[in-house]
Amino acid sequence: MRQPTSPLPKSRIVVLSGAGMSAESGLQTFRASDGLWEEHRVEDVATPDAWDRDPELVLRFYNERRRGVLAAEPNAGHLALVKLEEKYEVHIITQNIDNLHERAGSKQVLHLHGKIMESRSTADDSRVYDNQGQDINLGDTCELGSQLRPNIVWFGEAVPMMDQAVPLVAIADYVLVVGTSLVVYPAAGLVQFAPENAKIFVVDPASPKVNRRQAELVAEKAAVALPPLVERLLGVEL
Ligand code: APR
Repeated sequence: MRQPTSPLPKSRIVVLSGAGMSAESGLQTFRASDGLWEEHRVEDVATPDAWDRDPELVLRFYNERRRGVLAAEPNAGHLALVKLEEKYEVHIITQNIDNLHERAGSKQVLHLHGKIMESRSTADDSRVYDNQGQDINLGDTCELGSQLRPNIVWFGEAVPMMDQAVPLVAIADYVLVVGTSLVVYPAAGLVQFAPENAKIFVVDPASPKVNRRQAELVAEKAAVALPPLVERLLGVEL
């Protein structure tokens, strides 16, 4: 009698996404041509110094971003990536603080720079709360009585999720780099952890440089480029 064979392990895809992934959902990228993020200098709203100087401005800024995310919908790019799970082990590692990958249906999403839908205690980093889409205001506190802040990694802060991200990239068969200018470290360095023979796709109208021989550039918007790229990957003989 033939022994039942265990299924072959699935090939692994890691998607490294940035702000361009959500551009066609109506969320602005960070490095727009005027160098401002929704009319603010990054240093005024996304650094520990900004928080110390003017927490009210920082909270207002992120409250607006949260409302924007709540009003946005996943685009064809987010939806296409979900289909990859039919055939591959897929991990999305995103620099985005929005929840559009999850709302599209992607199952394994790691947020390097935090989540706009969470708040966290300023006294104890481990106290993180789902804020149910609500604003955070001055005077909103954790159980310890300390002010809540957005659960976002600001410039100058550590990126603890790198510890989980690096091992995922290090065993990837395919890496899709989508909509990131690759200028903010340590996230921008992740692609260099991919194995030498991993196939890398870069989907971005600005074709940021990745310095890898195996990279294929797709100079197109995510919502346009990803559906056919996903079909191509689903058709690959493994
Ligand atoms: N599809 C794909 N890529 C796009 C699209 C689109 N529709 N529109 C713009 N892009 C590309 C741009 O060409 C650019 O290369 O998306 C990239 C966006 O780059 P950034 O604005 O620098 O965003 P990102 O790389 O995600 O920023 C990294 O910096 O501000 C911090 O913490 C914040 O996570 C963010 C980090």
